[in-house]
Amino acid sequence: MMAQYDINDIDNEVKTWFRGLNLLIPSLIKQMQTDTKKNRFDLVTNVDQTLESNFEGLIKDLYPDHKLYGEESHHDTTDLKQGYTWVMDPIDGTANLVKQQNDFCIILALFVDGTPTLSYIYDFPRQTLYHAKKGEGAFVNHKRLEQVQAQPLSELIVSFNNKVLNDATMHDLLDASFAYRLIGACGLDSIRVCTGQFGAHIHTNAKPWDIAAQFLFASELGLKMTDFNNKAIDFVRGGPFIISNPGCHDEVLNILLSNGGYHK
Ligand code: IPD
Ligand code: CA
Ligand code: CA
Repeated sequence: MMAQYDINDIDNEVKTWFRGLNLLIPSLIKQMQTDTKKNRFDLVTNVDQTLESNFEGLIKDLYPDHKLYGEESHHDTTDLKQGYTWVMDPIDGTANLVKQQNDFCIILALFVDGTPTLSYIYDFPRQTLYHAKKGEGAFVNHKRLEQVQAQPLSELIVSFNNKVLNDATMHDLLDASFAYRLIGACGLDSIRVCTGQFGAHIHTNAKPWDIAAQFLFASELGLKMTDFNNKAIDFVRGGPFIISNPGCHDEVLNILLSNGGYHK
């Protein structure tokens, strides 16, 4: 039989692990080594790799029957919807880390039998931990985040990667919204939607680790998180993703799908 764990104990252990990063990350950045993966824009550093293996160490020590599904070296998708599964992006926004030493975060989420149960997005440069616990709400450091109030797109900032949408779709989104901003780290663009600062963040091909924590933030805060057909996203597969204020979700999807769609 599968071991049962106290979610509050796990939450405390993980928060302690995050605090430990305040010493570890600066020392890793000091000796930063950068490599490319699929192409010259797809970067990985010693920071990404060390954080994922460091978290794996914690899991192996404390929760040996938990599974880790992480961007850098844990891609086995067997049975991820059974038992305790951690999904991790050890550094989201690696290009920002390398080029700006700013605007990067760690994304981490625990799914229990496929249900989003604990979520974390750590904005390391701002020393701000966003976290959510199933049924208990979402928090920024120790402060509870308010439910987001519905607003129309005309009052809201939208965020999307402008390299992946065709020009007509992009202009329609710009015309219909209040303004456009992009941070360039899916976790941080998404968290601005959670705090009500942005109306929507769109990613046309999100990987599971880019959006792992957002499931629980969205449900705890009354936000919408779907694919572009308004369907639930499978946390093991990822894919087209929008997290949005409930007041602008339909309008953004209509724009994405109208006039032949958003593809280039
Ligand atoms: C990237 C960031 C970026 C998004 C890319 C992701 P990474 O993650 O989230 O905002 O546009 O598609 O791959 O590679 O820095 O973890
Ligand atoms: Ca990422
Ligand atoms: Ca990453």
